[in-house]
Amino acid sequence: MPEPGPSARPPIEPYKAKVVEPIRLPTPAEREAALARAGYNLFNLLSDEVYIDLLTDSGTSAMSDRQWAAMMVGDESYAGSRNFQRFESAVKELTGFPHIVPAHQGRAAENLLFSLLVRPGTKVPNNMHFDTTQTHVVRNGGAAVNLAVDEAYDPDSLHPFKGNMDVGRLEKLLLGASAGEVPLVLMTLTNNTGGGQPVSLENLTAVAGICRAHSVPLYLDMCRWAENAYFIRVREPGQGGRSIPEIGRSLFDLADGATMSAKKDGLVNIGGFVATRDRALAERLKEELIVFEGFPTYGGLARRDLEAMAVGLWEATDPAYLAHRIGQVQYLADLLGEAGVPFLKPPGGHGIYLDVRRFLPELPKSELPGQALVVELYREGGVRTVEVGSIMFGESEGGHGPPPLELVRLAIPRRVYSSAQLAYVADVVARVYRRRGSVRGLRMVYAPERMRHFTARFAPSSG
Ligand code: F0G
Repeated sequence: MPEPGPSARPPIEPYKAKVVEPIRLPTPAEREAALARAGYNLFNLLSDEVYIDLLTDSGTSAMSDRQWAAMMVGDESYAGSRNFQRFESAVKELTGFPHIVPAHQGRAAENLLFSLLVRPGTKVPNNMHFDTTQTHVVRNGGAAVNLAVDEAYDPDSLHPFKGNMDVGRLEKLLLGASAGEVPLVLMTLTNNTGGGQPVSLENLTAVAGICRAHSVPLYLDMCRWAENAYFIRVREPGQGGRSIPEIGRSLFDLADGATMSAKKDGLVNIGGFVATRDRALAERLKEELIVFEGFPTYGGLARRDLEAMAVGLWEATDPAYLAHRIGQVQYLADLLGEAGVPFLKPPGGHGIYLDVRRFLPELPKSELPGQALVVELYREGGVRTVEVGSIMFGESEGGHGPPPLELVRLAIPRRVYSSAQLAYVADVVARVYRRRGSVRGLRMVYAPERMRHFTARFAPSSG
């Protein structure tokens, strides 16, 4: 399977539309009023105020006709639902993990697992923690340690697997740790915080070997595992002839379990799970589940949601779907590249991450350039994006590791936008880039204690 080429040719959709949802570009005056009302935090916008919504790829997918049909065979029994059986079989078949605990989304899965494993004074290494992962480690008293390879922090490095973990640093950390100090090692596939970058099978094999040598369980944050497997297939020597599920099994076979937000590579609007090989842990997870989410055969979801997940998890492994999806991200990258826009290279699996330090070099850190760029992209063209930088991952959020990259993420929802809409987005970004000297800074006027990027409020800086 060839890697999508550098020519800015839109990839052809391997699907056709059956249902549509009208969208409208608000007027410049409407956008300005919306920004002020939202406290310059785009999480506070109404969706009707947004034209192209690239806030997240999570839970924003278009489901297929087969998934919608699956929703109609919902067996809404409290216990023992047929849909749970089909969901459980699908996850077992895909991952090989024997114990599957459903949850309503990824952070619920993190809460279940980390509240059982993470204790005060422990350390949890990861290539890079996502914000919810980091918060769940920290709220249980642990330290969230980021151990991605150095290339992950270099926006220009074309390393094919910038999601990899620095195995030397992992080995050092585990050698220096007392018994039980590291309750688990995590690997995030793909590395969302670092630009949607994949982990190689070779690196995961090395990480798993080190974990085994130190008797520390290895868990995958497997939200975007199918995209990761696609990159392995096109980039890793010897993997080109293997199917996505085969590559997936090679990844899962190395791990002791996983947390999943099926809102990404499960192609559903809600859903997730914890999977583990540890029977005793699975029993404790189910006890927690009953307290916080619901009975183990529904896990905080309608049973029809489990059925949609059972279908979506497999659809996400279709090579034609993945080639188009990753081709769309590459297409947007090609258009932005032609316009000279600086972004993190190579483009990741689920979006483009603008390199804020080079996009707005004049704006000092104190003027919150990442958020300023997010605001400006909305102001210019009604495009909603998200800051992935020092507001999302600032010191107050409790991470350990190098300072975060300053990025603005354009996350591409799955099977939602056309290439013409992405070309429009590229045009909006290029227009802002051309007039970058006019972008004004912001200051934070309200910050909650935790996960501040969701609810913080901002105002134009006086500078
Ligand atoms: N892990 C990773 C790597 C994620 O990207 C996310 C969510 C989660 C865990 C939590 O899953 O949202 O289902 O509770 N990422 C979304 C995003 C929110 O926009 O990147 P969740």
